[in-house]
Amino acid sequence: MKGMRGRHFLTLQDFTAEEITAILDLAGALKLKQQQKIPHPLLAGKTLGMIFEKPSTRTRVSFEVGMWQLGGHALFLSSQELQIGRGEPIRDTASVLSRYVDGIMIRAFAHSGVEEMARYATVPVINGLTDLYHPCQALADLLTIREKKGLLQGLRVAYLGDGNNVAHSLMLGCTKLGIHISVGAPRGYWPQAEIRAKAEQNARFSGGSVTVTSDPAAAVEGADVLYTDVWASMGQEQEKIERKKIFAPYQLNGDKLAQAGPEAIVMHCLPACRGEEISADVLEGERSVVLDQAENRMHAQKALMAMLMGNNYSGVSSQ
Ligand code: CP
Ligand code: NVA
Repeated sequence: MKGMRGRHFLTLQDFTAEEITAILDLAGALKLKQQQKIPHPLLAGKTLGMIFEKPSTRTRVSFEVGMWQLGGHALFLSSQELQIGRGEPIRDTASVLSRYVDGIMIRAFAHSGVEEMARYATVPVINGLTDLYHPCQALADLLTIREKKGLLQGLRVAYLGDGNNVAHSLMLGCTKLGIHISVGAPRGYWPQAEIRAKAEQNARFSGGSVTVTSDPAAAVEGADVLYTDVWASMGQEQEKIERKKIFAPYQLNGDKLAQAGPEAIVMHCLPACRGEEISADVLEGERSVVLDQAENRMHAQKALMAMLMGNNYSGVSSQ
C-alpha cells in the first residue's frame, strides 16, 4: 500500500479496502493510546483549518480536540466570517489557506465546492459533510461496527430513512469492506442511482451486496446493525412536516428491532429527532451504540489526519 500522505479525503470511494482498513487500525491504536494517556504527537506543530458553512457539534469538537491530542492546532472558520461569505472565490481561499495551514477540513452544502477547494489547495482537504457525502461519519461507523462485532466482512447493515449524505457514505464504506447493506426508504427518497451503482461495483469486488427497497420490514430482516438518520437534513428544514408523514413507516423503533437479528446494534450519526426517525426508547436503549459512535469520530479522524498530514505514523501500534 502506498502512503496516504498529501491526499484529499472527499469520498471513501477514492480509497481502497486496504487503505480504509489501515485508517481503522491506526484509529484503534490511537484510541488505546489516548485511553492509556500515552502522548502521541503525530501532528506536532501542524495546523488544521476548519471551514463550516453549516452548524456542527461532533465534527467541530472531534476535529479540534483530536488535533490538539495529536500535538497540533485547529482553527474554526465560519464561512459567514470568511471573505468566501462575501464572494471571494473558493480557488483563492484554497490557495491562500494552503500557505498557512497543513490541512483543510470543510463542511459545505455543495459537494462541487469541496471538489473545487481540493483542486486548488496544495494541502489535504477533508470532507466534513456535504449534501452528497459524509465520509468521516462512515469511517467512525465502520470503526464502531468492527469494535462491537469483531469483524466487518459478511455482516448485514440495514439503513432506514432518507437516502441522504450519511446513507451514501455508509453504502460506499460498507460495500468496500464486504458488508451487505440494505436501505429501506420511500420511493423518491432512495439513494442516488449513481452512488448505488458505485456501491454495487464495490460489492462485486468485496463480496458484499446492496439492496434498496421501499419495504422497511424487508430492509431490517435479520440485520446485525440498524442505522438511521434525520428525515430532514440541514438545508431541508422547510420540508420537515411533509417528510414526517412520508417517512413515518420507516421509524427505527421496537418493532424494527424485533425484526432484526437477535444481537443487532442500533446506530445513528446524531443529532437525532426522538419520536421521528427513531423512538426515544431505542435511541437510549441497551442496543444503542450511538455515544461510542460519536466518540469514534475523534479516533477515526485522528488516524485520518495523521495519515494525510503527518510525516510518520508507522511506529504507532496498539501494543
Ligand atoms: N454527526 C455529525 O456530523 O454531527 P455534527 O453535525 O454535530 O457535526
Ligand atoms: N443528514 C444529516 C447529517 C447530520 C450530521 C444532515 O446533513 O443534516
